Amino acid sequence: MRIRSLTLAAAALATVLPALAVADPLDDAIKARKGYYQLLGHNAGMLFGMAKGEIAYDAATASAHAENLRALAALDTGSMWPAGSDNVAKAGQTRALPVLWETFPSVMDKHTDFTNAANTLAANAGNGLNALRANIGALGNSCGACHDTYRAKNF
Ligand code: HEC
Repeated sequence: MRIRSLTLAAAALATVLPALAVADPLDDAIKARKGYYQLLGHNAGMLFGMAKGEIAYDAATASAHAENLRALAALDTGSMWPAGSDNVAKAGQTRALPVLWETFPSVMDKHTDFTNAANTLAANAGNGLNALRANIGALGNSCGACHDTYRAKNF
C-alpha cells in the first residue's frame, strides 16, 4: 500500500513537472516581475499612506514594511528579464520598455538607488512619524526615476 502510493506520488510529479517546464518562459518571467513590483507597491503604499496621515502611524508596522522593501531590494531578479520580454515583443502584457535591455546594465543604477533608499528607510521607519517622513521621499523618487525611463505609461 505504502509503495503503491509512493509510486502514485512519483507518477503525479512526473505529470506536473513537464507541464511546468513547457509553460512559456517569457510569460512566466513577465508574471514574476509584475508580482515582484506589486509587492513593492503594497509595502511602499502602506508607508506612503502613513507618511501622508491616511493610515495611522505604527512603529512596528512601519518597520516591518520597510524591512520587507529592504529584503525585496536584495532579491536577485535577473531571471525575470529575459531578452524578448519587452513591451514591443510582448505588447499588451508588459510595460517594460526595450531601452531597459538596449542600455543594460544602466537600469541597475536605478535599482541601486532604490536599494539605498530602502536600506535607509528600514533603519529609520520605526523611529517615529517624522523619521518616516524624512526618508520616504528618497524612496518614492527612486521608484519614479526608474519608471520614467524604463516603464511605459500604459500597456
Ligand atoms: C530599477 C527600476 C525600477 C525600480 C527601482 C522600481 N520599479 Fe516599479 N517597475 C519597473 C518596471 C520596468 C516595471 C514594468 C514591469 C512590467 O510591466 O513588466 C515596473 C512596474 C511596477 C508596477 C506595476 C506592476 C504590474 O502589475 O504591472 C508597480 C506597482 C511598481 N512598479 C511599483 C514600484 C514601486 C512602489 C517602486 C519603489 C518602491 C518601484 N516600482 C521601483 C521598474 C522599476
